[in-house]
Amino acid sequence: MTASKKTKDCAERALLLVNIGQLLTVRPAAGKPGPRRGPELKELGIIEDGAVLCIGGKIVSVGGTKDALRDPWLKKNRKNVIEIDCEGQVVLPGFVDSHTHPAFVNPRLADFEQRISGATYEDIAEAGGGIRSSLESVRAASRSQLAEKVSDALHEMAEQGTTTVEAKSGYGLTVESELKSLEAIRDAAARWPGTVVPTLLGAHVVPKEFQGRPSRYVELVCEEMIPHAARRKLAKFVDVFCERGAFTIDDTVKIFEAATKHGLSVRGHLCQLSQCELSRLLDFDPASFDHLDYVSNADVAILAQRNTIATLVPGANYFLGQGKYPPARTLIDAGVPVALATDCNPGSSPTSSMPFVMSLACTHMKMSPAEAIAGATINGAWALRLQDRKGSIESGKDADLAVFETEDYREIPYWFASNRCAFAVLNGTLVASGGSGELA
Ligand code: NIG
Ligand code: FE
Repeated sequence: MTASKKTKDCAERALLLVNIGQLLTVRPAAGKPGPRRGPELKELGIIEDGAVLCIGGKIVSVGGTKDALRDPWLKKNRKNVIEIDCEGQVVLPGFVDSHTHPAFVNPRLADFEQRISGATYEDIAEAGGGIRSSLESVRAASRSQLAEKVSDALHEMAEQGTTTVEAKSGYGLTVESELKSLEAIRDAAARWPGTVVPTLLGAHVVPKEFQGRPSRYVELVCEEMIPHAARRKLAKFVDVFCERGAFTIDDTVKIFEAATKHGLSVRGHLCQLSQCELSRLLDFDPASFDHLDYVSNADVAILAQRNTIATLVPGANYFLGQGKYPPARTLIDAGVPVALATDCNPGSSPTSSMPFVMSLACTHMKMSPAEAIAGATINGAWALRLQDRKGSIESGKDADLAVFETEDYREIPYWFASNRCAFAVLNGTLVASGGSGELA
């Protein structure tokens, strides 16, 4: 039977993938806990001619095809198992896209043209474009319109092999519209077979009604947005855009304090356009620091001792036309755990493609294809604190797989801007590529 004939009830039924040319388990090397660092990022735990058996949305066994087919349970139950012959293709853990902003309505085409004519991201933001120009349409949208937008993004991601997505609010910037954005993310997540981790990004920028009164806006974030989002369990994380023109380190500390007080974990947009001092934020045990284009050498040395993930988002550098890319080699060689994410958003990175981001990481940041894969899977899972369930193909973990029509895993970043993902398995449910959505 081909993938296109499978039914979505495979989430409940047993699903067996056999004849996998390269099965990238991304299992940890024995006895090494924690996110992958340095040379560990290259260890993909490849099994040739592999097989994976999933039951009830979980992985139950991983090994060689011959051994899988000799399994007594499988011999007895083979008739009830949905079996897919992968015909030598590559299978890897579904991508964990640990940084996205899908709750927006319109693309920002004016910004795009202005940048082509020479304006910078910051020039455009100062002139009233940028993030602020996305607010009106999100405030005016209904929750269901926004949920549709988020759903579209999630489906596009699954077609490219992504099975877990962090999704931020951040384009409403009123209490009502931030909560509406988080509700829309929850609604879209409920209709998608993959896993969505919601993040409150009320501190994306100071909206114009608070111009000249940024501390009043920070108060609103701390005293209203965070408590409401926490009480209603609409967010797992709180994020801050800590940058000139957005929020200061002092603001970020206040927001992280409020998040911690209300039981939410923290992550941050940091050092994207200028250097900042990360050490003051480490007391909050952030899951991830993202961008880090301008990270200082002193902070690199500190991060090498921590489990906070450095999440690099080169789609933003590409789309903003910056010659410079995040210093992946410096970070990896110093022992900092690095992840890759799309930063899917309408201003700086309108892409949902993890393979494209991996390609950028290889060509512009000199990460090897193996490092890019570990960064897009297991370290992404660490960045969302989901490392026990996601990011590697091991028995007991969620049945999240991506199947690529390639013979060699290095082709995934090699064939840039073309989608070679044949299908993905999200918590045991098959989603085919090519616009057909979930297989029915
Ligand atoms: O990660 N830097 C802040 N946030 C986004 C951009 C958001 C936008 O321009 O709409 C980023 O690049
Ligand atoms: Fe971002």
